[in-house]
Amino acid sequence: MDKAKGKAIAVVGAQWGDEGKGKVVDYLASSFDYTARYAGGHNAGHTVIFDGHRFVLQLIPSGILREGKKAVIGAGTVVDPVALVAEIENLKKSGIDVRGRLFLSNRAHVIFPYHREMDKAAEAARGAGKIGTTSRGIGPAYEDKMARRGIRICDLLDAERLPKKLECVIAEKNAISRATYGHELETQGLLESYLELAAHIRGLVVDTAALLNGALNKGESVLIEGAQGTMLDIDHGTYPYVTSSSATSGGASTGLGIAPTRLAGVVGVTKAYTTRVGSGPFPTEMPDLDAQAVRERGNEFGAVTGRPRRCGWLDLVVLRYAKMLSGIDSLVVTKLDVFDAQPEIKACTGYRYKGETLAEMPPDVETLAQIQPEYKTLPGWQKPTPGIRDVKDLPGAARDYLNFISDQLEVEIGMISTGPERDATIVPRGTKLAGWL
Ligand code: GDP
Ligand code: IMO
Ligand code: MG
Repeated sequence: MDKAKGKAIAVVGAQWGDEGKGKVVDYLASSFDYTARYAGGHNAGHTVIFDGHRFVLQLIPSGILREGKKAVIGAGTVVDPVALVAEIENLKKSGIDVRGRLFLSNRAHVIFPYHREMDKAAEAARGAGKIGTTSRGIGPAYEDKMARRGIRICDLLDAERLPKKLECVIAEKNAISRATYGHELETQGLLESYLELAAHIRGLVVDTAALLNGALNKGESVLIEGAQGTMLDIDHGTYPYVTSSSATSGGASTGLGIAPTRLAGVVGVTKAYTTRVGSGPFPTEMPDLDAQAVRERGNEFGAVTGRPRRCGWLDLVVLRYAKMLSGIDSLVVTKLDVFDAQPEIKACTGYRYKGETLAEMPPDVETLAQIQPEYKTLPGWQKPTPGIRDVKDLPGAARDYLNFISDQLEVEIGMISTGPERDATIVPRGTKLAGWL
């Protein structure tokens, strides 16, 4: 089997985010030279736990925690320099020095405080119809990018260009804010503080597409770290209850400037169940009492916002859709241990709408909110799984559950996670994923 040498492998979320991508990327990163983020910003929260340390990475790829490994924040991301500098400082306090190992794209778009303000104001204006954003300014920053008025990292670093660009944008933003939300934006001292931030990050900035393609040409390997998940993808997710970027594997190519032909494999990450933060339809959402039990056992509270995550049964319709969209070659199932005490487990195998089985994921949230999930019920194993390192040592019912998922989706299970720590991980032999390590 081919090793990852000279290859790019992408890890993507197959659900609504928080699948455990951080843990999975941290585990795999030791076999790769680079890890790279292609989309989103500090709306992401990727938790990595090892040797008694707990890190929540937001913008910086999880591979930075592996000694000597390099990490890239690509052009498709949106970067809040305040958050980036704070994240670098936090890592430094834990003894992790990013110097010479962290690279930021000169083409990434910058999140300014007015983006945060507009995110919050837009959510408030939506009232009951709010998306439940992370209020980090992600949506407004991507809006500016697409409207071709965004300010990029290369502009931030240019002390001559920045004042003019900011002046134009602020005049426009203030006109919109006054007309729509009835107030002026807080922009006092903005230029000065951003020039100072620019000085802090200047040393990280390069052409990251050139860097990564050069690395691949030399036979180095790149592990691509997805943020968010398939159902939050701007094009394919549960629009408008989505984020503003391309979370599926296609986004990896555009967001990093690595051609699709260079992607050698895609790893999809799913929990053994489903969670979602924020608003929007969630077909397999559990009744309150069941959801509460899973939330407690799985510690399902947002890594970034601390919000309780909504919990539901595994949705194979969602996973089938994710497999198709991202071309998932290997599936990682995380949080299997959360079901250790569960007497019975349900998994949704199909959607019924007005008495018919739907062949495809409905495009609109109005239909999705009305579908009836069809469930298959499987027995639980009611035995502890953490500490198991070999699939054959898993309880029979746990193996049956994993085989059921694999058969339904016609995809291998390349990794099983039975706890938040790095070593609570099973990598079955003979899989594609094992071959990349
Ligand atoms: P990400 O955004 O996809 O990286 O996922 P998050 O870090 O936001 O959320 C996943 C949560 O589950 C984190 O708190 C992880 O520490 C935790 N976690 C990951 N894998 C497992 C697992 O197998 N079992 C348990 N119990 N927790 C896990
Ligand atoms: P990771 O990478 C889970 C959700 C928000 C909200 C919607 C839009 O940790 O899996 P945004 O602030 O992006 O405009 O919010 O998307 N969301 C996430 N949910 N995990 C994430 O990232 C998320 N990033 C955004 O809760 O519903
Ligand atoms: Mg997360």
